Amino acid sequence: MNFHTEDVATTLPARYYTDPGVFNDELEHFYCQTWICAGRVGQIPSPGDYFLREFAGESIIIVRDDRDRIQAFFNVCRHRGTRICPSAEGRFTGRIQCGYHGWTYALDGRLIGAPHMHDSFSREDYPLNRVHADTWDGHIFINLAAQAEPLAKQLADLPQKFAHWRMGELKLYRRVSYDVRANWKLIILNYNECLHCPILHPALNAISDYLSGDNDPPHPSYIGGSMEFHDGVQTMSRDGKLRRAYLPGLTEEERHKVYYYAVYPNLLLSLHPDYVMVHTLWPRAVDRTEVICEWHFHPDEMAKQNFVGDDAVEFWDTTNRQDWGISELSQAGIGSRAYRPGPYSRRENLPRAFDQMIRNRQKAHS
Ligand code: FES
Ligand SMILES: [Fe+2]
Repeated sequence: MNFHTEDVATTLPARYYTDPGVFNDELEHFYCQTWICAGRVGQIPSPGDYFLREFAGESIIIVRDDRDRIQAFFNVCRHRGTRICPSAEGRFTGRIQCGYHGWTYALDGRLIGAPHMHDSFSREDYPLNRVHADTWDGHIFINLAAQAEPLAKQLADLPQKFAHWRMGELKLYRRVSYDVRANWKLIILNYNECLHCPILHPALNAISDYLSGDNDPPHPSYIGGSMEFHDGVQTMSRDGKLRRAYLPGLTEEERHKVYYYAVYPNLLLSLHPDYVMVHTLWPRAVDRTEVICEWHFHPDEMAKQNFVGDDAVEFWDTTNRQDWGISELSQAGIGSRAYRPGPYSRRENLPRAFDQMIRNRQKAHS
């Protein structure tokens, strides 16, 4: 049968993966004008604790202030613009001081010291430039836009949908950072289909059914769905055995599935019966993305003497590397002069929906 071209959804043209102009435009829109996941509340448990997030040429300080609020600021001194904080994480001792001429800021961003300024100088006029910050269930989100819609609006029904995992209670067990030579969108596309699982992930395919589960209808803020285990399998690990209690709060159905959601633009949530894996994507160039992967477990389990988490880490670290490897090969092939957009199958509906979202956005902004 012959299809008209409009009947066949195709992958995006090469420029979406190779053109630095398209890349910068996407960075500006997705990373600088919407809410992005910056990290976890547990990274900054005490007043003064901070970490930096660097993307799109910006450096953002995320800090817990004296009143236990999470604040975010551009890492730019209001005196002569110097980057104030050079270290990726640490603890400010009650104040944030620029290393150039000593302008000093409170943890809530107020300028509290400006040596040598004239008498009529008003400190109130020079606080740190604020970035919107909010949290969802243990995840910190930031938004660089001057006017930001509420985080809750962008997240839509996700907080309700994933309330049973009680992510805010979970604790970090392991963090691994990967440098992937592929465009950020290729990583999202790879994450959202498992037709590649039998070929690329034999270990994963042995324990979960790649054609099982349901996808949600694509939402403007996210895409995702669930996958079921094979009979007798209890979680995602090399042997599929459960080595920890189920997360409290899950229904019987939720104990038998893994839920995979890409929350635009940079959060991949993989919700397991006994742990949660979180990827955040940090585009570094049109063909390069830093991926930070974290494994979070319930603190009651982690407190047990015989707690193990490495089965989950090793399983997904192997799977991650397989996914990054194929994403790098995708990037390499799409860069060829021979590349033309190729046809999606009807089972690749989430990647198709993601591409459509990208196309629609570009249309709306051109
Ligand atoms: S540039 Fe920061 S104190 Fe002068
Ligand atoms: Fe994969």
